[in-house]
Amino acid sequence: MDLKGRNFLTLKDYSPAEIQYLLDLAADLKEKKKNGIPVDFHRGKNVALIFEKTSTRTRCAFETAAHDLGIGTTYLEPASSQIGKKESIADTARVLGRMYEGIEYRGFGQEIVEELAKNAGVPVWNGLTNEYHPTQMLADLLTVQEHFGKLAGIRLVYMGDARYNMGNSLMVACSKMGLDFVACAPKKYFPNQELVEQCREYAKASGSAITLTEDVKEGTKGADVIYTDVWVSMGEPDQVWEERIRELTPYKVTRAVMDNAGPQAIFLHCLPAFHDLKTTIGKEMNSRFGIEDMEVTDEVFESSCSKVFDEAENRMHTIKAVMAATLGE
Ligand code: CP
Ligand code: NVA
Repeated sequence: MDLKGRNFLTLKDYSPAEIQYLLDLAADLKEKKKNGIPVDFHRGKNVALIFEKTSTRTRCAFETAAHDLGIGTTYLEPASSQIGKKESIADTARVLGRMYEGIEYRGFGQEIVEELAKNAGVPVWNGLTNEYHPTQMLADLLTVQEHFGKLAGIRLVYMGDARYNMGNSLMVACSKMGLDFVACAPKKYFPNQELVEQCREYAKASGSAITLTEDVKEGTKGADVIYTDVWVSMGEPDQVWEERIRELTPYKVTRAVMDNAGPQAIFLHCLPAFHDLKTTIGKEMNSRFGIEDMEVTDEVFESSCSKVFDEAENRMHTIKAVMAATLGE
């Protein structure tokens, strides 16, 4: 499988065989890491990491993975570059493409990362946009594969705001790889119809199904994976908190949801998660609305069915696979 020179902008651009190849490569790199076997076969290369939104996992995963591969990194935070303010995306891409062998971008619209990719002349990797979070998908698929020993036939239920980056991306990832995908949310939070139709085509090819439902009992029954994400994403206005808490509380992942899914079910979350009062925003929402948690209860988050830290670790191994496979000679 030759993915050299390819961008990684959304899993829509990758075939199931290519996705499986990246997962297998990630598993191999993970094994090598655990056994102390060096993989620095990209020694001497450099990559630029552009973050227009904050990050813990994605940034650290890119930096540690790059280090293991022998690659140097430059981290560009929102305040420290000219991007968008004094210099267009296209100009930035052409400058960085002269200095770096690859570019990661986290930010706002998908069209920005597409524009970077069009002009950079080197592989561009999407570290999260409003629409998609493809590196997260590889980590999630690897975690499911490790836990269940397979992907096809697994039923994954996404609860919450299913029309944003995580809901969209999970629907693409599942339908491509043969997992049944359920969006369990109020109707207005369903993924957009055009993407649903595109994913139904992928699902037809992989033999899986896509279900959109408002019914929590029905939607989560027999699920293998219950997945959720924050109710308000980065870059969204503060004013939406009240509405989201009101509309999405019935879709919180609770013990009752996990019990309804069954004893086989695991809990996943891309993180960060609001499951207690140990964060500034968690405390603020507690004082405004009297709530102790949001998208998931602390009980579920801390339970043995929660695999969120395996999932977080897998960000690094899968991002390493993406860079290893797509960087040129
Ligand atoms: N899951 C994820 O992308 O985490 P960060 O925002 O910390 O990178
Ligand atoms: N939907 C979240 C994902 C964070 C990893 C956000 O965009 O903020």
